[in-house]
Amino acid sequence: MSVLLTGSAGQLGQHLRSCAPADVELIGSARKAGDLPCDLLDSEAVRDMLDQVRPDVIVNAAAWTAVDGAEDAPDLAFRLNRDLPALLADWCSDHDAILLTYSTDYVFSGRPGRAWRENDPTGPASVYGRSKLAGEQAVMASGARAYLVRTAWVYSALPGNFLTAILARASQGQDLRVVSDQVGSPTWAGDLARASWLLLQRHGAELQRPVPVHIAGRGAMSWHEFATLAVAGAVADGVIGREVMVEPIASAEWPQKAARPAWSVLDCQRYEQWTGDKLMDIETSLAACLSQWGRLPC
Ligand SMILES: NC(=O)c1ccc[n+]([C@@H]2O[C@H](COP(=O)([O-])OP(=O)(O)OC[C@H]3O[C@@H](n4cnc5c(N)ncnc54)[C@H](OP(=O)(O)O)[C@@H]3O)[C@@H](O)[C@H]2O)c1
Repeated sequence: MSVLLTGSAGQLGQHLRSCAPADVELIGSARKAGDLPCDLLDSEAVRDMLDQVRPDVIVNAAAWTAVDGAEDAPDLAFRLNRDLPALLADWCSDHDAILLTYSTDYVFSGRPGRAWRENDPTGPASVYGRSKLAGEQAVMASGARAYLVRTAWVYSALPGNFLTAILARASQGQDLRVVSDQVGSPTWAGDLARASWLLLQRHGAELQRPVPVHIAGRGAMSWHEFATLAVAGAVADGVIGREVMVEPIASAEWPQKAARPAWSVLDCQRYEQWTGDKLMDIETSLAACLSQWGRLPC
């Protein structure tokens, strides 16, 4: 199976590379590095790359991921998060290839009283969420064999995510103030990458049309609870020298440009039924991430 991985230098992209199954011929593409450099905003260049590689599967880990930045750059966010998956899905449709592309809990808002299921009504509250939903809709309309993998609160030991940001501050002895009124499913990029490959391996042959599927850490906790666990675990593993205070605050005390959902818990039963796999619970995956600290995923 030949797989073209876009966004191969990103947080998830690096994890996908590091745990790619042995029978996968993986071709990575990144903006400047990787096997195939490509600016994914250039649709002609993307089509040329696809026609050159002719992959059996495209895994699209590239996106506009700056949630607050999207409020000021909606055009770029929509080009990356709507137009790119649309182009990839159309190519897959024409070439009987499979697309696996990622979406987000931010397509939801409100509180259903349980974890979000794939077919629940969407209602994004930010430009980023709207751009990702528009990407989902374009892929659904393509009719391609496509997984729309919604995930949430992705973290890793790589720079540029919530976990590394709070541990960087804690390592300098700074106390933390962390919101306690947003609850979600923190997801380790390592477990998401492993599960993505398993989905393709165990269910890909049955895939006939575009489908959303949730993959996230098992369980639910607030950012504050997650930060508290992370600091304690990081001290125990020697990632940081000593404990710091982790103060719970309300979202209103931490103003951000883009609105975030207060409830971001994803129901992952569809994934688990289709693959027979059990996703890692949040505590276990956090411990796994911390235990591999300082070692690059690939
Ligand atoms: N991180 C989260 O908390 C989270 C939560 C829910 C869903 N997701 C989704 O999960 C997927 C993976 O996210 P991630 O955390 O791995 O994000 P990431 O680390 O920001 O990776 C995104 C990648 O896309 C690349 N990219 C952006 N614009 C490009 C362009 N014009 N040409 C080529 N490459 C370009 C970036 O390259 P540069 O670095 O060169 O810009 C980067 O390597 C995304 O679809 C995201 O929306 C993430």
